[in-house]
Amino acid sequence: MSERRFRSQDWFDNPERIDMTALYLERFMNYGITAEELRSGRPIIGIAQSGSDINPCNRIHLELAKRVREGIRDAGGIAMEFPVHPTFENCRRPTAAIDRNLAYLGLVEILHGYPIDAVVLMTGCDKSTPSQLMAAATMDLPAIVLSGGPMLDGWFDGELVGSGAAIWKGRRMMAAGQIDGEKFLQIATASAPSAGHCNTMGTASTMNAIAEALGMSLTGCSAIPAPYRERGQMAYETGRRIVAMAHEDLRPSQVMTRDAFLDAIVVNAAIGGSTNAQPHIMAMARHAGVEITPEDWMRYGYDVPLLLNMQPAGKYLGERFHRAGGVPAVMWELQQAGRLRAARPTVTGRSMAANLEGRATSDREMIHPFEQPLKEQAGFLVLKGNLFDFAIMKTSVISADFRQRYLSTPGSEGVFECRAVVFDGADDYHARINDPSLEIDARSMLVIRGAGPIGWPGSAEVVNMQPPDALLKQGISALPTLGDGRQSGTSDSPSILNASPESAAGGNLAWLRTGDIVRVDLNAGRCDVLISEEEFAQRKTAAPAQAPASQTPWQEIYRATVGQLQSGACMELAVSYRGVGQDMPRH
Ligand code: FES
Ligand code: MG
Repeated sequence: MSERRFRSQDWFDNPERIDMTALYLERFMNYGITAEELRSGRPIIGIAQSGSDINPCNRIHLELAKRVREGIRDAGGIAMEFPVHPTFENCRRPTAAIDRNLAYLGLVEILHGYPIDAVVLMTGCDKSTPSQLMAAATMDLPAIVLSGGPMLDGWFDGELVGSGAAIWKGRRMMAAGQIDGEKFLQIATASAPSAGHCNTMGTASTMNAIAEALGMSLTGCSAIPAPYRERGQMAYETGRRIVAMAHEDLRPSQVMTRDAFLDAIVVNAAIGGSTNAQPHIMAMARHAGVEITPEDWMRYGYDVPLLLNMQPAGKYLGERFHRAGGVPAVMWELQQAGRLRAARPTVTGRSMAANLEGRATSDREMIHPFEQPLKEQAGFLVLKGNLFDFAIMKTSVISADFRQRYLSTPGSEGVFECRAVVFDGADDYHARINDPSLEIDARSMLVIRGAGPIGWPGSAEVVNMQPPDALLKQGISALPTLGDGRQSGTSDSPSILNASPESAAGGNLAWLRTGDIVRVDLNAGRCDVLISEEEFAQRKTAAPAQAPASQTPWQEIYRATVGQLQSGACMELAVSYRGVGQDMPRH
C-alpha cells in the first residue's frame, strides 16, 4: 500500500491546525469511531447512499451498504455513509429529470466539503447513475459505481411482463377496450415483483450498463438482479476495490475518457438502450471535459447492430440478461467485431480488454452474435431540419408494422410526410387527443412542445404519445411523434424526441401549427415543416406559448442555469468546474 497522505488527514491529522482537528475529531467520536482510527492515515471512503423509502428502485442499497462497509474495512479503509438526493423516476413530479442536476450539485458539495478520500456511488434508478457520475467527474476523486441491480423478472398469465413496458402496453389495451382498470393494475404490479430497479432495458438498466461500459464499475456489476446473492458479493468486492483505488489514486479522469464514452455509445446501441442515454452521456462527458458531437452518435453508434434480446427492443428481461453474461458478454461480441477501444483503463485496475477476457455468452437467444444480430443499424438516428437543430430517433424499436406503413413507400423508402397535430404540453394532449375535430388519422404526426428542460421544467417523458382510442381500436398502435421532451426508456415508440432547442428556448417548434405538413427523411437525417421561409418569418413575429410559472425555488434556478437536451441539459455554469477534489476547501 502507498504512503499517500489523504485529503481527510487535513481534517483529522493536521498539526498546523490542531484547534480545528480537535473540533473535527470530537463529533465523529460521538458514534463510536476512535481518534486513533481517524488519525491512522487510512483512507476515508464515502458511501453515497441513494436508497430510501421514496426511492424504492434503490432501496436495496440500505442493505448493500453493509456489505460495502465490510469490504472497505477488510481492505483497510474507513467507511462514511451519507445520503444523496433521491431521484425516483416513477413518482417525482413534475419529473425526476429536474433533480438530476440537483443530486449532482449536492453530491459535489458533500464530496468537496467533507473529509472523503474516495467514494462508492450507489446507483440504480434512472437519474441516480448519471448524476453521481457527473459529480465524480467534477470532483475527480477515486470513485466506483455499485449498481443496485434490476428487479426479478415480472410474470403475468404465463408471460413475461417488464416494468414500464407493461404500463405502455396496458394503457393501449385499456384505451382499445381490451382490459379494464383493475386488470391494468394487476399487470402493472406483476411487472415489479421484487426489490430493484426496472427489469427492462429502460433508462436504469441502460445507465448502469453504460457506467460499466465506461469502466466505472467492477466487471459484471450492472446486470446482477438486486435480490441475487451475487449482488451482495459484488457490494463487498466493490468496497474492497475502492480502498485500493484510493491508494492508487485512480481517478475518474483516467477512466472517463473520450474512448470510454465512444464505447458507451456503441454499447448503448447494441443493448437497445434508452433514448435518455443521449442527454446523460452528453452530461457526463461534458463534466469530464470530453467532447462528443452529434456526428459521433452517427459515426460510432448508428451502425451498431442490436445484439441484446431484452424489452423494449426485444423479448426478455433482466434475470436472463444476467445469466447470459450481462454487459461483459455484449462487450465481448463488440470487441471481437473490432467496435471497441478496449485498451483503456478501468476501475478494476486492468484494461477493459482484460476485463472482457473469457466473457463470451453461451445464451445465443439472449445475446446474438455480431454477424447475426436482431436488427442492423440499431443506434440513434440523429435528425435536424427547420424545426430543430438536433433530435434523435431510436431505430431499434421501429416495429415491422410501423416500417411498413411509413417507411416502405416504393421509390422513397425511409421518407414520409404527415399532417402535424400540435399539443402544448401533456395536459393539452390528454385533454384533446380524443377530440374528433382534430381529425387524427393514420397520416397524422402527433407533436408535443413545451416539454423541454425549461418548458416543463426538467424535460418530460411524454413524446411517446399514444394514438386516439379510435385508432387504437382499428389496430393502429403507433403514430409518428415529435417533441422537445423525452420519452421513457421503456417505451417502444419510434418517436423523434429530445428536439433542441426546445420551444421555450425559442426553438422553431414553437411556431408549428396543426395542419402543417412535416416531411421526415430518415436517409438524409432530416425533419422539416413544408412551409415557406416567408411564412415562417411571419409566424415568428407572434410570441410563443408561455411556459408555466416556476412552483419552487429550485425550478427557477434550474431553468435559469440549464442547457438543452442536445448538450446534456447540464447546469451550464457547472461544466467548467473540474478536478475540484484536488482543491482543498477552507477550514
Ligand atoms: Fe426507477 Fe425504472 S422507475 S428504475
Ligand atoms: Mg423514465
